[in-house]
Amino acid sequence: MPFIEFQAVTKRFPGVLALDGVSFGIERGTCHALIGENGAGKSTLGKILAGVHTADGGEIRLDGRVIAPGSPLAARELGIAMVHQELAFCPNLSVAENLCLGDLPRNRAGWVDRTTLSARARAMLATIGSTIDPDARVGTLSTGQEQLVQIAAAVGTGAQIIVMDEPTSSLSAGETRELFRLIRELKARGLTLVYVSHRMEELFALCETITVLRDGQHVTTEAIAATTPSRVVSQMIGRELVARTPAHLSREPGPVRLSVRGLASPPRFAGIDLAVRAGEIVGLAGLVGAGRSEVVQALFGLDPKATGEIRVDERPLALGSVENSLAAGLGLVPEDRKRQGLVLGLNCRENTSLAALPRLTRAGWVQRAAERTLVGKFLTRLRVKMPSPEAITAGLSGGNQQKIALAKWLARDCDVLLIDEPTRGVDVGAKAEIYHLLDELACEGKALLVVSSELPELIGLCRRILVLREGRLAGELPRAQFSEAALLQLMAGVPAAA
Ligand SMILES: Nc1ncnc2c1ncn2[C@@H]1O[C@H](COP(=O)(O)OP(=O)(O)OP(=O)(O)O)[C@@H](O)[C@H]1O
Ligand SMILES: [Mg+2]
Repeated sequence: MPFIEFQAVTKRFPGVLALDGVSFGIERGTCHALIGENGAGKSTLGKILAGVHTADGGEIRLDGRVIAPGSPLAARELGIAMVHQELAFCPNLSVAENLCLGDLPRNRAGWVDRTTLSARARAMLATIGSTIDPDARVGTLSTGQEQLVQIAAAVGTGAQIIVMDEPTSSLSAGETRELFRLIRELKARGLTLVYVSHRMEELFALCETITVLRDGQHVTTEAIAATTPSRVVSQMIGRELVARTPAHLSREPGPVRLSVRGLASPPRFAGIDLAVRAGEIVGLAGLVGAGRSEVVQALFGLDPKATGEIRVDERPLALGSVENSLAAGLGLVPEDRKRQGLVLGLNCRENTSLAALPRLTRAGWVQRAAERTLVGKFLTRLRVKMPSPEAITAGLSGGNQQKIALAKWLARDCDVLLIDEPTRGVDVGAKAEIYHLLDELACEGKALLVVSSELPELIGLCRRILVLREGRLAGELPRAQFSEAALLQLMAGVPAAA
């Protein structure tokens, strides 16, 4: 008998059947992978187990007993916790206050007893081998540290089951290693983990079993040892993926469209010189904190302190004004799409056409037919899963929201496009389609500068890769010299011989 057993679990949202009679089991003390396309129902299943949503039908059994956690608190009492990607804590409170929020120790006068509070928090952090300062404000922690605190909170309150929903998507390589070490240790202590990720290597490195969902239905549950990444891909998307070489690589690039000299914004970065030609996709690599996002944000006019010289199609562009940047033909797809890229209360059509409206407007009227065609084209090609283009964006799964943010900028038809993490949180099938779309833009003569933490992505897509290290350009690699090792050496500043 499995430790956790889902039986015909069903969940309906307005216009979507998110889970359609899903049944499978999870053994105690294992790490169980959950994978599937964007919108397949992974987060929904995790949230039902953790009491965030309630199922409309079916049963969950824990150790043979039927459970129906009606709230996250009820789930906690059953020993089930979920580590969320989005902020789960109060950023203005300390780590200790957040960890002990439900049960603050008080002294005889009724004041919060700071000494006991810190000690109790330190003990909880120690259970996961973390040395994070309990008195630090949560707002000052990195995403990785905050996640560790969430895990400490779960383990410290006696959780037996932890659901992790795309935990590594904004972690640095070091933080990811730390998380993996911790997951292995938790498993050894007998905890059970449900691990949602689009990163196949992680699933194969960490998990014993894997469940594939497709369109809310259960496709398969099998031992990791008995399957392969390519088999899993075809189970999730129902077809084989063929890797193709981007077409822009076999064409000669045109004139310089974006040229940057001496871009600086101390202390974050300085001395940035670069040029991107028409028809080129240039990569910008670097470790987390190297300044990649800061550089593209400054190029787009978002950094009031930035100085330097930018030219778009040879015309000088004054820094520090998004309006000027847009008028010059520049676009930025930001990394944090939820906060910077989308209006979640608008529907999918509105979000997609938002940035293209000037182009779709004639004499003050939006050309609705043209808008529908444009929106339809991008939403179809990116395989956005939504009840209809009129559905509110907030109801879409994480990956599908990411696709809408990207569609919005692709639809605007910018001459120079800065893209920060084009495929974060996006499933493998949609990734391939995004690469194809970017390649098409390059072939049309646009200039693209792409920031990515996924080196295989830059290696597959780019003509050249620039490497940033601690706010400076550390070097450039032409396609002929691409390799993960060469890039990592530049990123970390290790000499090639080492
Ligand atoms: N709160 C909600 N309101 C309306 N629809 C929702 C809500 N939450 C999820 N859905 C819908 O349920 C389906 C499953 O969503 P879910 O978030 O579980 O997908 P997912 O597999 O986690 O995808 P991703 O890889 O993009 O995170 C999607 O079609 C989504 O639009
Ligand atoms: Mg999800």
